[in-house]
Amino acid sequence: MKNLRVIILGGGKNKRMQLSFPKVLFPIWGKVIIEYVLDSVFSLRPESVMVVVGYQGEKVKVHLSKSKYSLHLQFAHQVEQKGTADAVLAAKKKLSNFKGEILILYGDMPIISPSTLKAMLRHYQRTKPGATILTTEIPGPRGYGRIARDKEGNIIKIIEEKDATPQEKDLSEINVGAYLISAEKLFKHLKKINNYNVQKEYYLTDIVSVLTSAGEKVNSVSLENSEEILGVNTKDEIINISQIIKKNILTKHIENGVFIKDANTTFIDSTVKIKSGTTIYPFTIIEGKTVIGKDAVIGPSTTIINSTVGNLTSVMQSYLEESTTGNNCKVGPFSRIRPGSIIADKARIGNFVEIKKSKIGKSSQINHLSYIGDAEIGENTNIGAGTITCNYDGKSKHQTIIGNNSFVGSNSILVAPIKIGNFSYTAAGSTITKNIPDYALGVGRERQINIENWGRKKNEK
Ligand code: UD1
Ligand code: MG
Repeated sequence: MKNLRVIILGGGKNKRMQLSFPKVLFPIWGKVIIEYVLDSVFSLRPESVMVVVGYQGEKVKVHLSKSKYSLHLQFAHQVEQKGTADAVLAAKKKLSNFKGEILILYGDMPIISPSTLKAMLRHYQRTKPGATILTTEIPGPRGYGRIARDKEGNIIKIIEEKDATPQEKDLSEINVGAYLISAEKLFKHLKKINNYNVQKEYYLTDIVSVLTSAGEKVNSVSLENSEEILGVNTKDEIINISQIIKKNILTKHIENGVFIKDANTTFIDSTVKIKSGTTIYPFTIIEGKTVIGKDAVIGPSTTIINSTVGNLTSVMQSYLEESTTGNNCKVGPFSRIRPGSIIADKARIGNFVEIKKSKIGKSSQINHLSYIGDAEIGENTNIGAGTITCNYDGKSKHQTIIGNNSFVGSNSILVAPIKIGNFSYTAAGSTITKNIPDYALGVGRERQINIENWGRKKNEK
């Protein structure tokens, strides 16, 4: 939206959280909490978004510079953490020529939704007050600023809990922490805020009393869904917030046509994409930048991290990390696919198979009890049970290359570097140390001899 700029406060010191990093970088389901706030904010298409950093601000900058919003973010630095009003003041310099409206949000409220912010904006544009703030009613609130109104219901001020009298603490309407105000009024009145309060901080909440004393009207939008107000302020709030975000993530997937058999035991990062028709069985964890195709079947008991899974592929009781599978593949049960593996369409990776940094060609099969590392296997090739690529000589890793339509017999030991051609074979139980050309059979074992009547003599003794 033209003429709208956003300030997000993320400079606080987090006395209550006792973290070794800034609170706004607290990770929940694949993102840090300020990224959830950014997601909501960017849905408004503002002209710019400024993040105020302070305590360990460099860490916040570095993290957000790697985020998808990096190109659209500006930063302001709050030198000393003197309160939320002081934090907004830190953004002033970079907004000095700006004449439009400013939305201020705290970086510690990850559940705030785009629809709430849009409702606030609509109300502000319709009523044109001095400022619009977001409030909600909660019985027996704790930790939040309370909204004081006069007899006519006009907002007069916000009282922080630590400064509130017992009667004021009984007020059930609270300050959620979102403010819409023109840049001009904000910076005109911000400088009038003092720190004469219990915490000796410059409270942004005091902008309300400053405005109303100057004859400006402050109105509010009331939040229906009180979950949205939750801020990450203390460690015990984390469990609750993380459960709510988890539920929101799963709900979105269900709405998009993903079948989640048991929401209690399914854990999906907010960064994961899943196409419709896919079924997720219980005890499944899907993390990072994972993308799962259409009509796939994932789980039970499966972990997938930063991977791509094709359409109609099943991954059952398995662990997949930084790898790709094509369409119509079958992985598991009990497969471990380690980083750098690419499994082509219709390939089959079976029980107790470990694959590391390897390419498995179309329709090839590794069905049982194998270790395939640093290998390239062509199409339509069968790897027998118990095959092992000896890829490591104690110093370096070496490649195993196997062509198309080949057949590696059970219990083959492939000592890398080694090359096995197309339509080639290894005899079961072989230790293969030399390349096998196309169409050849490699035998690398003692020939069997039968000692006639050996059992008879033994029994006679
Ligand atoms: C604040 C509000 C309170 C509201 C609540 C909603 C004030 C004074 N109080 O309290 O009315 O009900 O949020 O969750 O605003 N920050 C800075 N610099 C600072 C201090 C804070 O950047 O000097 C940032 C923090 O990183 C945080 C945000 O501002 O992201 C809010 O600070 P926090 O300490 O969490 O305020 P609350 O006590 O939650
Ligand atoms: Mg807070």
